[in-house]
Amino acid sequence: MKEKLIGEGRTAEILQHKGQTIVKLYRENVSEQNILREYKVSQFVYTQGIRSPKPFELITMNERKGIVFEQILGPSLLKMISKNPWRVSQYAKMMAELHYSLHKLDASEEIGHQKEMLSRCIKEAPMLDIGEKSAILSYLEHLPEDYKLCHGDFHPDNVLLDQEEAWVIDWMTGAAGDPNGDAARSVIMFSKGAIPQQAPLPVKLMIGFIRKRLTKGYIREYLRLSGQSYADIDQWVLPVAAARLVEWLPHTEKEQLLAEIRKRLKVLSARK
Ligand SMILES: Nc1ncnc2c1ncn2[C@@H]1O[C@H](COP(=O)(O)OP(=O)(O)O)[C@@H](O)[C@H]1O
Ligand SMILES: [Mg+2]
Repeated sequence: MKEKLIGEGRTAEILQHKGQTIVKLYRENVSEQNILREYKVSQFVYTQGIRSPKPFELITMNERKGIVFEQILGPSLLKMISKNPWRVSQYAKMMAELHYSLHKLDASEEIGHQKEMLSRCIKEAPMLDIGEKSAILSYLEHLPEDYKLCHGDFHPDNVLLDQEEAWVIDWMTGAAGDPNGDAARSVIMFSKGAIPQQAPLPVKLMIGFIRKRLTKGYIREYLRLSGQSYADIDQWVLPVAAARLVEWLPHTEKEQLLAEIRKRLKVLSARK
């Protein structure tokens, strides 16, 4: 029997499975190490009592690796935002609350550390030269060290809503780290991002409007809850943006990140 496709993302296709379960079936270019990592972090967060789908087992299907998870019945927050864009500020607040609730939890280093993950990606990042990489890596070393639970890819397509209850999915990049670094990544993802060139003008304006509201609403609520200042989050933008260059992103988005990185490197070298 062919299983029904019920969702997809950059790393996987999501297929309906037995009972109330799904299979997250990884694309061929995803390494086995990363799949095992997602399985391990998913088990960790599930046993911590975080509202996240229960991971059942690792499987192989048509020569591809997958993980069987509990199925969450409900749309993603991204779907809800595109359906009700006038409610984006409300959703932004919800994202901040949910994110902050993760950041209050201690994470074991067993699931990996944020700085190690960032430095690995920065070393592999395309478009940056060796001098730029080493400047960013030594800057990263001096940033605060913490061991709170960080998601590493917290955006509205990784939050599912089941009767108003929010579930956090997609934990491959989960790690122990400084919450401000995790919040910085969300801010970068909300605010930067290519708007399809071919989209009609009203659509472009709408995407721009939603991004602004989402970013502003998220930052305002996150700072209110955490008692941090924006500078605490902003100091992470340089390494987090550089690490993001390894991901599959449209070229225009990478160009935007690169411009931001170079602007910040200039400020750093002027300070020396
Ligand atoms: N446990 C689940 N229950 C229901 N839908 C899911 C589940 N996991 C993923 N999905 C759907 O599939 C999409 C992609 O899943 P995700 O784990 O985020 O993959 P990727 O790592 O490729 O981004 C989600 O946005 C969601 O719509
Ligand atoms: Mg995802």
